[in-house]
Amino acid sequence: MSPADPAGDTLETNGRRPTLVVEGQGYVGLPLAMRASACGYRVVGHDLDEHRIKELVNGRSFVEDVSDVDLQDALDSGRYLPTVDARDCAGFDVALITVPTPLKEGAPDLSCIRQAATTLARFLQPGATVVLESTTYPGTTEDIVGPILEEGSGLIAGTDFSLGYSPERIDPGNRAHPFWTTPKVVSGIDAASLAATDQLYSKLVSETVRVSSPKVAELTKLLENTFRHVNIALVNEIAMFASDLDIDVWEAVDAASTKPFGFMPFTPGPGVGGHCLPIDPSYLSWRVMRSLGRSFRFVELANDVNSHMPDYVVTRIAHSLNRRRKAVNGSRVLLLGLAYKPNTGDDRMSPATVVAQRLLASGAEVRACDTHVVEDHVDVRVARVELTSEEVSAADLVVILTDHDDFDYEMVVAEAAAVLDARHRVRGPDVEYL
Ligand SMILES: NC(=O)c1ccc[n+]([C@@H]2O[C@H](COP(=O)([O-])OP(=O)(O)OC[C@H]3O[C@@H](n4cnc5c(N)ncnc54)[C@H](O)[C@@H]3O)[C@@H](O)[C@H]2O)c1
Repeated sequence: MSPADPAGDTLETNGRRPTLVVEGQGYVGLPLAMRASACGYRVVGHDLDEHRIKELVNGRSFVEDVSDVDLQDALDSGRYLPTVDARDCAGFDVALITVPTPLKEGAPDLSCIRQAATTLARFLQPGATVVLESTTYPGTTEDIVGPILEEGSGLIAGTDFSLGYSPERIDPGNRAHPFWTTPKVVSGIDAASLAATDQLYSKLVSETVRVSSPKVAELTKLLENTFRHVNIALVNEIAMFASDLDIDVWEAVDAASTKPFGFMPFTPGPGVGGHCLPIDPSYLSWRVMRSLGRSFRFVELANDVNSHMPDYVVTRIAHSLNRRRKAVNGSRVLLLGLAYKPNTGDDRMSPATVVAQRLLASGAEVRACDTHVVEDHVDVRVARVELTSEEVSAADLVVILTDHDDFDYEMVVAEAAAVLDARHRVRGPDVEYL
C-alpha cells in the first residue's frame, strides 16, 4: 500500500467499525481488500479456494502488487480476515464482488457471480450496499445480481439495500498507476444506490466518476478492453506485413507517437493473455448477438488476429533457425517470460503457453525463464531454468516473449547466438524483432 495511506482509524463510529466483504481474493479482490483494510474497514476476504485462503492466513501473497509485508500488516491490524467460511460475512455493511467471469464454450459463464450473490443474499440486511466489480456484459447487475439478492434475502433492491456496479481498472504490475489513484467509474440502480456506491469508493480511491446506470458502467469497462484488444490487433497485423515489406514497424509506431493528437501508441507482441483481453470483448459480442442478432465484427477480427500471433511467432522462430541452417526439430529454444505481461506472475491464457506448445509439437527442446510465474500453465516438458549465461549461450535461439524488468538483458545480448525479441526490448547485431 502507498505510504500516503490513511491511518485506518477514521471510519470507526461509536466503537463500531463497518464491515466490508470482498467476495473473491484474486488479482482484483486481494488488493481491494488490502486497501479497504488500510482505509479503516473491517474486511472479510471470502473465497472458495482453500489453498489460496490458507496461504493468505499464513501471510503469503500470490499477487505481486500485494507484498507479504502489506498482507501481514493487514492481518496484524486485526482488520483483515481471509476466510472460506461464508458465515464470516454475517453483518456486512458493504460487499464487493470480484469473482471470475470466464467464457464457457464461447459464452459468458456467470456461475461465480451467481454463487457469490447467493452467498451474500443469506447475510444481506437492510441498509447494506452490494457492488459488483467483475467484468461482465451490460445488464448483469440489474437482471442477475439484483434478483438473486432479493430472492435470497426477501429485501428489495433500491428500497431496502443499495446495489451498484463499479468496474475494476487494476493493472497488475503497474506501479505508476495503482488502482487507488486511477479514477473509478461508479453507478447505482437508483439515486440512493449511486450515492452509496460513490460514498464507498470515495473512501478507497482518489477520484470517482459517476455514470447514470450500471449498464453504462458495465459497457464502459467493455469499451475500454475492446479498445485495447482492437488496437493491439491492428498493430499486430501491421507488424506482420511490415516485416514482409522489410519495414521497421517499431520505428513507425515511435514516429507516429510524436503526433500530439489523434494517435495513441500500441505495440506489437506475441498475442494477448490474462483474464481480460482474450475474454471481455467476447462478453460484449455475445450480448450484441443475443440481444440484437448482430455480430460485433471488430471483436471477431481482433480475436482472429491476436489469437494467430503465437503461431506467427513460431513461424518467425522457424525462419530465424532456418537462416542458420537449423530446424526447429532438435533445436534448443530458450523462452524469456511466461506471464502474459511484464512484471506480473499471471500466466493465464498467456501466448507464451501456445508458443511453447507449438515448439514442443515441432520437436524443439524448450526451456523457459520466469521468476514471477508460480502457477504454471505451461507444458511440463518445458524445463523451467534460471537465466544464466550458460543457458543463454547453449540455446540456438533466445525468444523474448515477456519483457520483465528483472531479466539481465545485457548478458542475454552478449551471450546469445541469436535473439528474437517480440517486445522490442533489446538492441544488438544478432537481434531481430516481430
Ligand atoms: N486481473 C485483472 O487484471 C483484472 C482487471 C480488471 C478486472 N478484472 C475482472 O475482475 C474479476 C476477477 O478477476 P481476477 O483476475 O481477480 O480473478 P482471480 O481468478 O484472480 O480471482 C477470483 C477469485 O474468486 C474466487 N471465487 C470464485 N467463485 C467464488 C465465489 N462464489 N465466492 C467467493 N470467491 C469465489 C476464486 O477462487 C478466485 O480466488 C473478473 O471479472 C475479471 O475480468 C480483472
